[in-house]
Amino acid sequence: MLTKIAELLEEVKNYPINSAEALKDFHLKYLSKKGEISNLMPFIKEVAPEDRKTFGQKINELKNFAEDKFKNAQTEQEQAADAGAAAEFDLTLPIIPNELGTVHPLTLTRQRIIEIFERIGFNVEDGPEIEDDWHNFTALNFPPNHPAREMQDTFFIEKNPDILLRTHTSNVQIRLMERQKPPIRAIMPGRVFRNEAITARAHCIFHQVEGLYVDENVSLVDLKQTLFHFAKEMFGKDTKIRFRSSFFPFTEVSAEVDISCFICKGKGCNVCKQTGWVEILGCGMVDPNVLESCGIDSNRYTGFAFGMGIERIAMLKYNIRDLRLFTENDVRFLRQFANVV
Ligand code: PHE
Repeated sequence: MLTKIAELLEEVKNYPINSAEALKDFHLKYLSKKGEISNLMPFIKEVAPEDRKTFGQKINELKNFAEDKFKNAQTEQEQAADAGAAAEFDLTLPIIPNELGTVHPLTLTRQRIIEIFERIGFNVEDGPEIEDDWHNFTALNFPPNHPAREMQDTFFIEKNPDILLRTHTSNVQIRLMERQKPPIRAIMPGRVFRNEAITARAHCIFHQVEGLYVDENVSLVDLKQTLFHFAKEMFGKDTKIRFRSSFFPFTEVSAEVDISCFICKGKGCNVCKQTGWVEILGCGMVDPNVLESCGIDSNRYTGFAFGMGIERIAMLKYNIRDLRLFTENDVRFLRQFANVV
């Protein structure tokens, strides 16, 4: 029996493990449950009692040797595989920079405007860009012969002049008030269209954010404080505002709001055209006719509305001189906003 063990040991020693296959076969042949070493176990009973201890020890030695050989071969093969994989990568090569895009300045500005108003309780509302005459003009108290309806301002659909591209986001005011009764407090960002030649100061497609607050006892004071808060948050805490009376069909009273020029601090420069003030938006108290058009009792409710151009706010804030830069996709321009928060 001991000779058999010695033979097996010799066999194990000489077994060439030179591939993953051979490693598997080796395990199967010697170390598995039905392998040759396990097969020796039943013979212990047949050995004379005084020899059993030596017999057991010899089997153990054989088993340990086989296991060690198996483990060493296994580690060696694993290391070889790792080295092979590493060789495919040259870790000294320079990396290919992963170029991220940047947030567009108009997106950045819109997000900032939304954030300021959301914090004081305004919801964000949305509405259609292709609109009918009622929501864009009539319900907003535009008289039938108002110049804004004329061909040079508005893009109409030729086949149906009742359908047009909205000229302002005020259509969302109407849709919102038709759908929801006061209290209403919302801002409405969106794209608008006007039939204008593209220049440094005008474009036929631009963006607005409109605001609307309708409830009992809403007054001009609420409007002023809300816009004053906005101006300080957007342009800095020392910003002053002033109201100049103006006209919009859908508001009465109406005003345009200027902020103190934050570039020259009111001393006069070419951004504020030496006046110390720059215009940022239009606003007013919602005309009772507009409330009634939407089925809201104008004796019980009052409201204010305001509207601003996102391009204009962005141009002022980042001192951008030409509106066309926003749509030219010149990365030298766009990249400058990479780190602006
Ligand atoms: N809709 C106006 C415009 O496009 C802006 C505005 C909105 C003015 C709300 C007053 C109130 O010029």
